[in-house]
Amino acid sequence: MTRAFVGLDLGTSGVKAIAVEPNGRLVAQHSVAFDFDRPHADWAETPPERWWDATAKATRQLVANLSNARPNTEIASVALSGQMHGSVFLDAAAMRHAGRRPITALSPALMWNDQRTEPQRAQIEQLLGGRRACVEMSGCPSLCGLTAPKLLWLREQRPSLAERLAGLCLPKDFLALQLTGVFSTDVGDASGAMLLDPRSRQWHAHVLDALEVDPDVLPIPVESGTPIGAITAWAAEATGLPEGVPVVIGSGDNQTAAVGAGVLDSGEMLMVLGTSGVVLAPCDEATPDLHDDVPGRVNLFCDATGRGARTGQWNLSGCMLSAAGSLEWARGVLAPDVSFEALLAEAAQAPSGCDGLLFLPYLTGERCPMPDPDARGGWIGLRRSHTRAHLVRAVIEGVSFALAQITDIVREIAGRPATIRVTGGGSKSALWRQVLADATQTPIVTLETDQGSALGAASLAAFGTGETDDLRALTCRWVRPATTTQPESNSPLDAARVVYDRLYDDLRAASVALSQAQRASTNPTPAPGHTT
Ligand code: XUL
Repeated sequence: MTRAFVGLDLGTSGVKAIAVEPNGRLVAQHSVAFDFDRPHADWAETPPERWWDATAKATRQLVANLSNARPNTEIASVALSGQMHGSVFLDAAAMRHAGRRPITALSPALMWNDQRTEPQRAQIEQLLGGRRACVEMSGCPSLCGLTAPKLLWLREQRPSLAERLAGLCLPKDFLALQLTGVFSTDVGDASGAMLLDPRSRQWHAHVLDALEVDPDVLPIPVESGTPIGAITAWAAEATGLPEGVPVVIGSGDNQTAAVGAGVLDSGEMLMVLGTSGVVLAPCDEATPDLHDDVPGRVNLFCDATGRGARTGQWNLSGCMLSAAGSLEWARGVLAPDVSFEALLAEAAQAPSGCDGLLFLPYLTGERCPMPDPDARGGWIGLRRSHTRAHLVRAVIEGVSFALAQITDIVREIAGRPATIRVTGGGSKSALWRQVLADATQTPIVTLETDQGSALGAASLAAFGTGETDDLRALTCRWVRPATTTQPESNSPLDAARVVYDRLYDDLRAASVALSQAQRASTNPTPAPGHTT
């Protein structure tokens, strides 16, 4: 009998299940897509039951695929990864019945890219004593996408549901709860809630107090590689996973992506080109971004390298909300019948720098490098000579400029890496990798088994159940570099980026002014004040 480790990654619009052998070989996988809902322009939510249904489908098919590919393989353990910051609100009945029968959440979960909570975000900033104080306490400024403002929103906007609240957890924790009946979370995902002290890796007593959060509704955060329970009989029936298999909590998808890309040591850097775009650098000290003028341009989160009593380290990371999400949108409006590959090949025909065309990627507001739910996207600099190829290439360049700005901030604090490893759907494009290499002036490295967060989760399953004592050594075995894209110096992109950086503040201010003016003209009540 050989063994396999299962990694489950709950993404924004799909769940991926993979099984990996102890030597790192991927032996089975299955993904199931789902939609998330946008009941209003700036809202993004999903009923957690939809996540569970997709997960159960994915694991049932994974188990079937595994037994076809490797008939004599048993699943040794399962670990989870998930989209960060989402708010799963549970009542006492759900907490009581979890792991024994299907449970439902009190409401849809507000997701990481939901922007409805500006008033609550501002209120938290005020209650905690300003932006700097927020960063000092939690590693993050008060941002709409994080979990804490969502809880305040529930209290204000859905008071009858808030009264019934008995459990608040992150998206992947909901899956862990259903799989095991155990209410748990890890320090990495928990640090994206804005309620955790990243230094002590415990909930921040003062923050909970100031925001009147009852600690009893929160799971106790543990290190990522900690087994929290085992698949229950009911969950085994629902998911096809064998009863009794240990479940390791795992982490947020960016922490697990770092594990899955082997980016665990300070001096290294990861870029994740998913719906969101993330730049992440491991650090061995808990150093929040306390920039004099704008503290918290990037966030400090706990990482996923700890297990049980062995404490992990930290990540500095900055997340832009629409990275590959911008390309997906552009394809949807410009060329829904053209494949991504064909569209990218077309975009590669447009010249670097796009003949002066710029794209602002703020399709769902923005978080980093400039937090503002009112920021809006757009192409600017259009001329008659521009073609669809220019429009698409400008999207890639605009997203890359934003990522390069985040990279500059992260390396100002964490140091300049020799290379940047990339993962996520967008990293499959050679064009995009070249633009990123040029925009950051750093070699961009892809990986052989590019299973991103799901591979990170599988690694944590192995680490958490004692397959290895050394997560770094495991990732060195499992994760190997595939290609390196060298930056071109003096490319036309340099000039385009200079223009972008010079105009950035004005363009962004214009986009915010536009959406605020539109709101003021359709809604006579003044909009809540902004503190970016
Ligand atoms: C990170 C973030 C996103 C989600 C997407 O801070 O909000 O990357 O985790 O899955």
